[in-house]
Amino acid sequence: MVKITKHPDGPEFDCAEGDTILRAALRAGVGMSYSCNVGSCGNCRFELIEGEVEHLRKDAPAWSERDLKRNRWLGCQAQPKGECRIKFREDPGAISPDTPEHRTAELVSVTPVTHDISEFAFRVDGTDSYSPGQYALITAPGIEGGRAYSMSRLAGDGTWRFMIRKVPGGAATGHLFEAAKPGDTLSIDGPYGTGWLREDCPRDIVLIAGGSGLSPMVSIAEGAAAAGMLGDRRLHFFYGCRTEDDLFNPEDILGAEIAGKTSFTAALSEPGSGWTGPTGFIHDVVRDTLGEAIAEAEIYFAGPAVMSASIQKMAHEAGVPMDRLHFDEFY
Ligand SMILES: Cc1cc2nc3c(=O)[nH]c(=O)nc-3n(C[C@H](O)[C@H](O)[C@H](O)COP(=O)(O)OP(=O)(O)OC[C@H]3O[C@@H](n4cnc5c(N)ncnc54)[C@H](O)[C@@H]3O)c2cc1C
Ligand code: FES
Repeated sequence: MVKITKHPDGPEFDCAEGDTILRAALRAGVGMSYSCNVGSCGNCRFELIEGEVEHLRKDAPAWSERDLKRNRWLGCQAQPKGECRIKFREDPGAISPDTPEHRTAELVSVTPVTHDISEFAFRVDGTDSYSPGQYALITAPGIEGGRAYSMSRLAGDGTWRFMIRKVPGGAATGHLFEAAKPGDTLSIDGPYGTGWLREDCPRDIVLIAGGSGLSPMVSIAEGAAAAGMLGDRRLHFFYGCRTEDDLFNPEDILGAEIAGKTSFTAALSEPGSGWTGPTGFIHDVVRDTLGEAIAEAEIYFAGPAVMSASIQKMAHEAGVPMDRLHFDEFY
């Protein structure tokens, strides 16, 4: 355990051996700004004032030679070699409602959702609590670095579920889809993420999922129903994907009761000749479907970074205040 101190005037927190500075901060309830946790977004960048660190992922997309020259590091990849004093942006919104923990997880089942997305269920130890929309880091045996996956249902029954898309040639998804079998144990660290359901918000809810961004949006839909939010609020669920193969029946995924209270719209970017539904990019479909009503909604979204950027631009142009957008970008 080593001490990390925020420059110039605190707070201090302890970092356990093998942990990263970002995750230690969040475990200690210190709001270090972040999003992806895997070295891709750059939100957790800090300046090292005193001490030494080791970077886990040398090829992290958000870390460059220029950062190294300026003694800037990524909190999600930096492990301290001793006591450190660091300068970083503090954001109270980064503190998770549930403290992230390392857990052992046993794979229980794998259920297909579409041709390349399956729902993986893990029985977990530790505190069984997270907010709908959050994610965890799953470390598969023999694969360097945990990968981020969003929980797809609700906590509370000892089992955490994740809808995961098989990435062609992907290391972690290759293991999960091709080698992992029920009874195997993996490690799961979480919950993380800031794009979780705000239960106290009175506005209609708009959920926008791109591909495997489906997972946290299903969790938020279930969370809104469980919190009794769907009596006086509308729930609009948009799903953007490429072809008919990516589609699913909303009742199969959300259950008949929630699906019955949801307006569900799927849009295809590469439709076959038989498709009569919406086509094109999902942010355009959301804007064209909701019109001015979007400015009054609470918006949650998950999916590729390019989709995320387009949604933020569309929402900004439609007059949606930034504090009504909730998301963690997928990389
Ligand atoms: C916040 C967040 C939530 C996500 N939620 C989901 C979800 O619910 N469902 C889903 O299917 N996908 C989700 N993803 C994407 C997922 O984490 C992986 O990018 C994807 O499964 C590819 O993993 P792979 O190892 O199979 O592919 P690979 O091509 O082998 O790896 C690609 C990705 O793995 C990460 N990576 C590579 N090397 C390392 C390393 N050493 N340390 C840490 N990370 C590394 C990088 O992010 C990279 O983009 C999410 C991503 C983020 C950031
Ligand atoms: S690069 Fe560290 S949180 Fe994204």
